[in-house]
Amino acid sequence: MDFDTRYKQYLTVVENWLEGVLPEVRLSQDELPEKRIYEAMRYSLMAGGKRIRPVLSLAVCDLIHGDEKELIPFAGAIELIHTYSLIHDDLPCMDNDDYRRGKLTNHKVFGEAMAVLAGDGLLNLAFEIMLKETMKDDNKNYSRMKTAYMISVSSGVKGMIGGQVIDMESEKAEISYNVLCRMHKKKTGALIRASVLAPAILFNTEKNIVDKLEIYAENIGLAFQIKDDILDFEGDSRVTGKLTGSDAANNKSTFVSILGIAKAKELLKTSVENAVKALDGMENSEFLTQIAHYISERNK
Ligand code: IPE
Ligand code: IPE
Ligand code: MG
Ligand code: MG
Ligand code: MG
Repeated sequence: MDFDTRYKQYLTVVENWLEGVLPEVRLSQDELPEKRIYEAMRYSLMAGGKRIRPVLSLAVCDLIHGDEKELIPFAGAIELIHTYSLIHDDLPCMDNDDYRRGKLTNHKVFGEAMAVLAGDGLLNLAFEIMLKETMKDDNKNYSRMKTAYMISVSSGVKGMIGGQVIDMESEKAEISYNVLCRMHKKKTGALIRASVLAPAILFNTEKNIVDKLEIYAENIGLAFQIKDDILDFEGDSRVTGKLTGSDAANNKSTFVSILGIAKAKELLKTSVENAVKALDGMENSEFLTQIAHYISERNK
């Protein structure tokens, strides 16, 4: 099966799950006075992101012969957390962006207060879903708890939020190369790493595979954000679905601003090579290799 077909298959699984987790509310405002929050959450969630995080989880799940139905609540929870991080990232007090996933940003449509709450709502929903999984009547709850715990650490101040903090601080003064790498590793790398490792933890994969997956994940996580910085610099807004030049307008420290575009591209290439190398000799890993290349070649 070629890359696009397989990606689309995983995408369908993800979209169907997301559709079920946050269905359209058909009640009136009188029947459900808090209706607007559901609309705001759904607006951003169903706006058609690439879903690369849950796709990665599903791909690793296949690689280790895990059960997709068991995995999807965790993979989906990561997408809910990711979407919340985007809604907040776009707020005027953060990156102040007007477009996301090809549509107006959440606060542009629903107002800032509702956008903050929609983000909070998605974050809590992610944990509600994962915790529910840990209350099943079987002997696998410990693995589920470990998976949810890893996802919570990756999303919080030790992971994504920590990276966002460095990102905001970097607007005030240029950061060093080391701090830049730390920022990328956390703000984007942490959730990508969590996506790759979630199935490995959930299905108790042997250590030597987990170690390789971890090196792979860290390298594609870095590559993903380097490419994001490059697209902000030279991408096409009509394709990326968000306005380019946002980083420069906000005076951000990025791989492009600190290293220059040519070096940033070199580092992107090296990160992808390192990711691919980590999979050396691993059975069924060709899709993960293709994803690593897709990350550096993507236009959106
Ligand atoms: C954008 O993420 C923000 C980063 C963490 C770099 P994506 O590029 O995965 O955005 P969507 O989910 O496809 O919209
Ligand atoms: C955001 O990084 C990373 C998140 C944790 C949301 P960016 O601010 O560069 O993401 P975009 O370019 O707005 O998608
Ligand atoms: Mg940002
Ligand atoms: Mg941003
Ligand atoms: Mg960006």
